[in-house]
Amino acid sequence: MTDDHVRIFDTTLRDGEQAPGFSMSTDAKLTVARTLRDLNVDIIEAGFAAASPGDAAAVHAVAEEIEGPRICSLARLTGADIDAAGKAIEPAKLKRIHTFIGTSPLHREAKLKLTQSEILSRISELVAHAVSICDDVEFSPEDAIRTEREYLVETVTAAIEAGASTINIPDTVGYTTPEEITDLFRFLISTVPGAEKVTFSTHCHDDLGMAVANSLAAVRGGARQIECAINGIGERAGNCSLEEAVMALATRNDFFGATTQINTTKIFPASVALARVTHNPIPRNKAVVGKNAFAHEAGIHQHGVLADKRTYEIMDAEAVGMPSNSIVLGKHSGKHALRSRIEALELEITPERLDEVFVKFKRLADAQREVTDADVVRLVTGSNQRPGRGGPWRLRRVELRVELDEDTQPYARIGLEHENGERQTVTCEGEGPFDAAFNAVCAIAGVEGRILTLDIHHIAGAEDGIVRAEARVEIGDTEYLGTIREVDVAHAAVGAFVVAVNQAVTKRDAEAA
Ligand code: KIV
Ligand code: ZN
Repeated sequence: MTDDHVRIFDTTLRDGEQAPGFSMSTDAKLTVARTLRDLNVDIIEAGFAAASPGDAAAVHAVAEEIEGPRICSLARLTGADIDAAGKAIEPAKLKRIHTFIGTSPLHREAKLKLTQSEILSRISELVAHAVSICDDVEFSPEDAIRTEREYLVETVTAAIEAGASTINIPDTVGYTTPEEITDLFRFLISTVPGAEKVTFSTHCHDDLGMAVANSLAAVRGGARQIECAINGIGERAGNCSLEEAVMALATRNDFFGATTQINTTKIFPASVALARVTHNPIPRNKAVVGKNAFAHEAGIHQHGVLADKRTYEIMDAEAVGMPSNSIVLGKHSGKHALRSRIEALELEITPERLDEVFVKFKRLADAQREVTDADVVRLVTGSNQRPGRGGPWRLRRVELRVELDEDTQPYARIGLEHENGERQTVTCEGEGPFDAAFNAVCAIAGVEGRILTLDIHHIAGAEDGIVRAEARVEIGDTEYLGTIREVDVAHAAVGAFVVAVNQAVTKRDAEAA
């Protein structure tokens, strides 16, 4: 390893999984672990073996299957926890035990009821025990940031003397600032006896929104391991986001002078896999992996990006594994962007016709948030379908049912009418009533898909309906957006599905023709 190599210690499956709404089954953990292997992370913290038999089994399953990264389990600084961790990681070729104990006054007095010297003796005894089970041991003084500096030096010195090879300095409560943490790492690395033999690691939480900035500042102070999680998930506001830290180091190598071994083109697939298995969609404006991260709607930006994407992009979408940069057509888009989309759709248009279409395009963009490819095709080819509803199917009947007893699955009975007059009614079950309704719409239209997001807003005082629904769905490998205004929630939600599914059907039928 070179001096500038920063190890990526991924804790998505441990600190991330610990957060409410992110718990994962063993299968889900394996799915994410495979994406972490593809990313080429240095270490996977697969769980906290002593937390539950399920957690131990998941760590064991990851240790058994995943080759490449070192597989790690967390353990409190107790004999039983360390033994459980050692057992769970046993099948891995490369393994690590990560053990921790609170060291700040609050943790010592309120939580542990232990004196400074009692904690020091535990560190000496139990880190040595961990080293006797596994040759790679990481020690964390929990709440290090709020621990007295002199005492912090004593704790990490004891851990190094007992054989720990990685010293992690957690900002457990997300309290520090970039300047402070750079200074702390410089202080520790220049003060702690034996510091040159170990790797110093940073573990920051995002309570004040500074986890990534603080982790990068720790690297400036000498840290050579970043503990982070995909999509920044973790306790409370989360951990340092892997994709942001890695892309900051890659994009600003001139500033940080540090590198990672991450295959950045696997970042987006890993982010999507995690979002899928935990049912937590990636926020649209999320740095690096959000849908808007490489999207441009403003006319001036679109013009610049079409001329040379470096005008408004500091990274390539392809570098993080996103299909390509996306120009989103909306009310801020200019004629350049519209013409470029028309050309991409392989439609022909004269300059005069483009002027006419552009006027209609702006009107349509004012009426709906996004102008889809299907809308562009309709505008250019002059098809007179109702804007945003283009496609053969119309919603005729909506019946949603949820029973309070747990044994009955929610279901929906949906009726659609085809433009040729044919009517079909289908009943489907689903995880919830809207999911069931979407299944029914797909069954009638003969497509397969899934809901990515469904937003429903009540619009006070609106003239043409009081509920606005926006459904983003995936059909095949394409995303479609359906928006609609209706008078009630059920018709709005299901109507938005129909609008989106209609676009997929129109595309499918055009391709088949
Ligand atoms: O935030 C924290 O302090 C932790 C430790 C277990 C490293 O997650
Ligand atoms: Zn943590």
